Amino acid sequence: MTSYLFDAYGTLFDVHSAIAREGKALGEKAAAISALWRAKQLEYSWVLSAMAASEGVDFETLTARGLDFALAAHGVADDALRARLLSAYDHLDAYPDVREALVRLKQASHRTAVFTNGTRRMVEKAIAAAKLGDLIDTIITVEPCGAFKPVEAVYAHALAQSGARLAGDVRFVSSNRWDVAGGVRFGFTTYWINRAGMPDEYPTQAPAQILGSLSELPI
Ligand code: LAC
Repeated sequence: MTSYLFDAYGTLFDVHSAIAREGKALGEKAAAISALWRAKQLEYSWVLSAMAASEGVDFETLTARGLDFALAAHGVADDALRARLLSAYDHLDAYPDVREALVRLKQASHRTAVFTNGTRRMVEKAIAAAKLGDLIDTIITVEPCGAFKPVEAVYAHALAQSGARLAGDVRFVSSNRWDVAGGVRFGFTTYWINRAGMPDEYPTQAPAQILGSLSELPI
């Protein structure tokens, strides 16, 4: 039995599905706003972590701040739309390869966990909406750490919650290359899911394998 940890946003859940579903009113600005929303959400988490100033600020708050910046930067002021987009974040689409990959792992009696910057509330909602609850044994969030990925203490917390003894025994799966770098640095056996065929980054923190989708995940 092996412990598999899955990053949530960008790996299991498509963060751009919120604007794809609810952002019709944004017209041709939609894709740029969605990309800026995600970029700012992550930037805030990294900057607060680097300043050791993330105590008391959760990822839900940073998600709202990122959206507020992205809308304002594109000159959009629409409170009802803002509320609909934040609510859509609670039921993002799961990528099409997610269910089958989790089913394969459960059939092989492996342990499955989500390990995320997101709050437990956000992630439980997203998992329930995608009907993945019966395929995920554990939800591990960074909330007790007062920091976000890729701070080392956060991966140590995940290891402690994973049921595995050694970091190298954990198979950490993420589509976020910077998160993969954090996992490698900590010592996890790490798989980068590069669905979009992006160029590689972080050459000194190379993953065990680069895969095109979760369907290629070794069991
Ligand atoms: C997460 C962010 C990194 O789910 O997407 O942790």
